[in-house]
Amino acid sequence: MKHFLAISDLSSDEVQDLLDLAVKLKKQYFKNGNKPLFDGLVLGMIFQKPSLRTRVSFDMAMRHMGGDALYLSPNEIGLGKRESIADIARVLSGYVHALMARVFEHEHVLELAKWSDIPVINGLSDYNHPCQGMADALTIQENFGKGKGLNVTFVGDGNNVAVSLMHVSTKLGWNFTLASPEGYDLNPKAIEIAQDIAKKTRSKLRFIRDPHEAVKGAHVIYTDTWTSMGQEEETAKREKVFPPYQVNQQLVDEADKDVIVMHCLPAHRNHELTDEVADGPHSVIFPQAHNRLHAQKAILARLFGVA
Ligand code: CP
Ligand code: NVA
Repeated sequence: MKHFLAISDLSSDEVQDLLDLAVKLKKQYFKNGNKPLFDGLVLGMIFQKPSLRTRVSFDMAMRHMGGDALYLSPNEIGLGKRESIADIARVLSGYVHALMARVFEHEHVLELAKWSDIPVINGLSDYNHPCQGMADALTIQENFGKGKGLNVTFVGDGNNVAVSLMHVSTKLGWNFTLASPEGYDLNPKAIEIAQDIAKKTRSKLRFIRDPHEAVKGAHVIYTDTWTSMGQEEETAKREKVFPPYQVNQQLVDEADKDVIVMHCLPAHRNHELTDEVADGPHSVIFPQAHNRLHAQKAILARLFGVA
């Protein structure tokens, strides 16, 4: 693994291997603390958009493992504006040992990876959010074990988070359903990739409109904001379209009795997810957020070649 840009770049075995390593590092952290495997290593973190979880969990992942992280704000770097992405990648390759980048355009993180001599991690783009997908899979396996055939349902916008959830689900042999309003479907290329993966793993894929139909038999109900970062001018329009896709108690009651409810956060409470569900017995949103830390330690360890 040279970079970590998309879950679809990994084999099913590689995905499971990362998850197993994450479990090991999580246990170790809570028992005696992690070993300083990242001693002397620094992660450069480029952010073109705001972040709580990604920023703090990567920073703490590096510190827990004996390394360090450097936050580079949008204003300082001016990715592609103050300086070309190719030049930034080549300069930073001489200063830090890996890069994590949160960008608007997916092409920009690919360009960084193309020009850097050090590993590049995609910390969210307009196309996908693979670090989130790995933490999500870790959370799902903690709740249901490693078996195939789980039903994972995403309700809402066919966005970046949905792409990575679809790809990790198909890699692990889970069935994936998206219920989205017309005009808010998943990226067709991401669907093609998932269909190819599903042929090998026998996952079933469904793309439908009706959230009620989508959650029947679901072991996982996942939702995310109706308006992603960079789409703010569409907020008013989206607030009119998405209310039938709210994850509320009625919808949760229509799923499997042991369903878990997931959200990558930040949540817009009582829009895509009600307080009752977010704080209710089926919700795993906080353990899920905490799993970012453990999943990312595994990704970093593999990229650094130290575990
Ligand atoms: N889920 C997630 O990536 O959160 P942040 O935007 O706060 O990093
Ligand atoms: N889909 C959301 C995820 C935030 C972590 C966004 O891109 O804003």
